[in-house]
Amino acid sequence: MGNLVDDLGGMPTLEVVIADFVARIARDPMIGFFFAKVDLSRLVQLELQFAARTLGAEVAYDGRPLRQAHQQLRIADGQFNRRRELLRQTLRDHAVPDAVERTLLEHTERLRAAVTHFAGQGCNHPTAGSLMVEVSADGRESAVDWP
Ligand code: HEM
Repeated sequence: MGNLVDDLGGMPTLEVVIADFVARIARDPMIGFFFAKVDLSRLVQLELQFAARTLGAEVAYDGRPLRQAHQQLRIADGQFNRRRELLRQTLRDHAVPDAVERTLLEHTERLRAAVTHFAGQGCNHPTAGSLMVEVSADGRESAVDWP
């Protein structure tokens, strides 16, 4: 089986990329607040293990299951998308092989439901999807069709 970590230059190279990625998410104006109290060097190690396994390397993962690690954070789809975009930019800046970029981004997308609060369904309000919602004086909401 092909191991994409070797294609990339081994674990030391992947660690440089992941450390840069974690630094970027931690200082990002949109999602950086999530990491304010997180031990970033520990996070780098766990993200490194996780990414290496995704790329086919046989290393142990010492972290929690992803659903469990993210449940209390109530991550929205847009915040998930922001992390994915920062990952894409980091991988581009480090000029990783196409197969590495594709594998990590596709794997990210498959984990959306485990990581986000609304399980990838976007807004889960009962009237979501209608263009306008009327709220009457008694507080009842009804969907209004766009003229
Ligand atoms: C598929 C996408 C994602 C992957 C693969 C991923 C991966 C990981 C891993 C491996 C850990 C360590 C688990 C542990 O602490 O035991 C972790 C923790 C964490 N992740 Fe993610 N993550 C993803 C999405 C996100 C997003 C979108 C955010 C926020 C915008 C986020 C914020 C965090 C935070 C704050 C922690 C630390 C939790 C804590 O220390 O309690 N993650 N993530």
